[in-house]
Amino acid sequence: MSDNRPGLLIVFEGTDGTGKSTQLKLLATVLVERGFSVVSTFEPSNGIYGTQIRELFTNRKKISPEEELDLFLADRKDHVDKLIAPSLKGGKIILCDRYYLSTIAYQGAAGLDPDHILARNDFAPVPDLALLFHAPLATGIQRITEGRGDTLNDFEKEDYLQKVATQFEQLQLPCIKRIDAERDIEAIHQDVLALVNPLLRSL
Ligand code: TMP
Repeated sequence: MSDNRPGLLIVFEGTDGTGKSTQLKLLATVLVERGFSVVSTFEPSNGIYGTQIRELFTNRKKISPEEELDLFLADRKDHVDKLIAPSLKGGKIILCDRYYLSTIAYQGAAGLDPDHILARNDFAPVPDLALLFHAPLATGIQRITEGRGDTLNDFEKEDYLQKVATQFEQLQLPCIKRIDAERDIEAIHQDVLALVNPLLRSL
């Protein structure tokens, strides 16, 4: 456990379409069944800055990469202050779909320095565990377009996502555990449980 805090922060990271949101839901169900108090959340959040970010999805070029970084950081600060920090203090297990590894990878892919991005996140509680889901880009894109019936938004264009994937590959932080997401849902879920179970002993 980080920072001697009573709760746990587990984040789900990776390029789009790697199945991380599905895995978050499966884990939440198991933890609730076992009697833990679970908070499932996501970034960009539903707060004021998160809402502005979602509006950008349809037209990325409206703002510069620096302004984009500022918005993601403002959203994270708001999310940490209002939900993540109080939940950690309250002994809850927070499952967060994307967190600052996404900022390093996505805004890093947009040309900003990854170390600078990490340093600007120093206000954010360090995750106890960052599950980094990895699958070939083509699999993720196919899942978005066919599985979800969606078109790709401006954050999901293939050449950009290739750069994002490279940023994720290069990330080295103690909280990261990599998961091969190109397998069936149940096999991946078992891997997730094997990584989470040891952390639960501290709660
Ligand atoms: P999602 O709701 O599908 O996960 O979409 C969020 C998009 O926002 C996704 O394409 C990744 C992007 N993103 C960033 O660029 N930086 C960040 O810090 C976060 C949290 C998300």
